[in-house]
Amino acid sequence: MKGIILAGGLGSRLRPLTKVTNKHLLPIYDKPMIYYPIQTLVEAGIQDLLIVTGGRNSGDFLRLLANGKEFGLKHINYTYQEGEGGIAEALALAEHFSDGDQICVILGDNIIEGSIASAVADFKKQQRGAKILLKEVHDAERFGVAEIVGSKIVGIEEKPVKPKSKYAVTGIYMYDGSVFDKTRTLKPSARGELEITDVNNAYIREGTMTFNYLDGWWTDAGTFESLLRAANLVEETQKLRSPAMAAAAGRDCE
Ligand code: DAU
Repeated sequence: MKGIILAGGLGSRLRPLTKVTNKHLLPIYDKPMIYYPIQTLVEAGIQDLLIVTGGRNSGDFLRLLANGKEFGLKHINYTYQEGEGGIAEALALAEHFSDGDQICVILGDNIIEGSIASAVADFKKQQRGAKILLKEVHDAERFGVAEIVGSKIVGIEEKPVKPKSKYAVTGIYMYDGSVFDKTRTLKPSARGELEITDVNNAYIREGTMTFNYLDGWWTDAGTFESLLRAANLVEETQKLRSPAMAAAAGRDCE
């Protein structure tokens, strides 16, 4: 399976932080934001990566990441999105790289505590279609929200005023090779973007969408609040994982 990290867009919600740099190069605790989605894919065994960047500072990704040695990679592919025409527009740029293979797409501002390895393994066994990862949240109106009936997902609404469930669609998507036929049919939404939710709804209509629930915490980092929350969550998790803290936490539980 190939991995695609979408790090285009102009990060306008984070101005002035994004006036002279790309949102995905901003720090989340002790690392640039883009490190986390790369780590998520690499940890799930996905080594063949494409990063879609954009804006005026895209050259900085190359200076920062080069061929991905820090992540144990031999090579990273890069491509460029002009403007911010939407997540699905950025994804459409990955058609040549994907070459018909299954792909795992992650948004450059999505940071998770746990692993997607088991979901990736499940999707590898899926003959066709797509898989999304859902997470229960208290502010579903900020996200794509899944409507679930029984064990089936019957639709997704993008940033609904009245969410039909508490389950946000996280920015981690797995697709078969037909995804690019779907992106070609999209029309811009009211906010002028090609929406990933429209791609996912096309799979739902086709009856080939599956989903898993994501374990551990999940956050985006595209607003001032979520950027700060992401840094705090990463710091807490790293401290808990450090041997001394883990031992102390163990003692507390005794
Ligand atoms: O974080 C999960 C949510 O991400 C989903 O629940 C929503 O369904 C999905 O639409 C998206 O919502 P946002 O409005 O939060 O997406 P945002 O515009 O902040 O973009 C998220 C990332 O996608 C961004 O960090 C980089 C990438 N992107 C975005 C746009 C608009 C691109 O690569 N190109 C783009 O043109």
